[in-house]
Amino acid sequence: MERKKIIAIYPGSFDPITLGHLDIITRASTLFEKVIIAIAVNSEKNPMFSKDTRLKMIKEVTKNIENIEIDKFSGLLVDYAKNKNAKVIVRGIRALSDYEYEFNMALMNRSLDESITTTFLVAHQKYTHLSSSLVREVASLGGNVSNLVPPFVIEELKRKINE
Ligand code: PNS
Repeated sequence: MERKKIIAIYPGSFDPITLGHLDIITRASTLFEKVIIAIAVNSEKNPMFSKDTRLKMIKEVTKNIENIEIDKFSGLLVDYAKNKNAKVIVRGIRALSDYEYEFNMALMNRSLDESITTTFLVAHQKYTHLSSSLVREVASLGGNVSNLVPPFVIEELKRKINE
């Protein structure tokens, strides 16, 4: 399938990036000319990982995907998107329960800027239960997260937990 000549933004906290995020990034990279993975640095109160570590992890685990860029942003997502000339925001949907929050966010972003369209990609069903917050909790309590995050992230989690 030919990629659309559109720049898309995939925003999120990525604290840390999971296999579910990676699934969405891989799908988006086949659809759009360029996908900017944008780490929100001011929307989260108390992240486990610094913005630089989050960026480093994303960089490492996406190094085989050619048409992506990784960046950090603060302020409104639509302002950042406009600045980057991106017309599409990509969000992943794991289950129906994600939809209400995502729908409201899409409508708010549309009311802020009509020219930017949100598109939802459905994550693989093996990631339905997966979230960064559960990964943080399970890893902090010594559980096995090897089927939830890439190996590089496991090492960073171990490092963080042993700090
Ligand atoms: O991974 P997350 O935490 O679900 O991502 C949420 C995120 C970062 C995409 C959202 O909070 C966001 O876009 N924040 C930037 C500030 C903003 O534009 N807020 C209005 C969106 S309706």
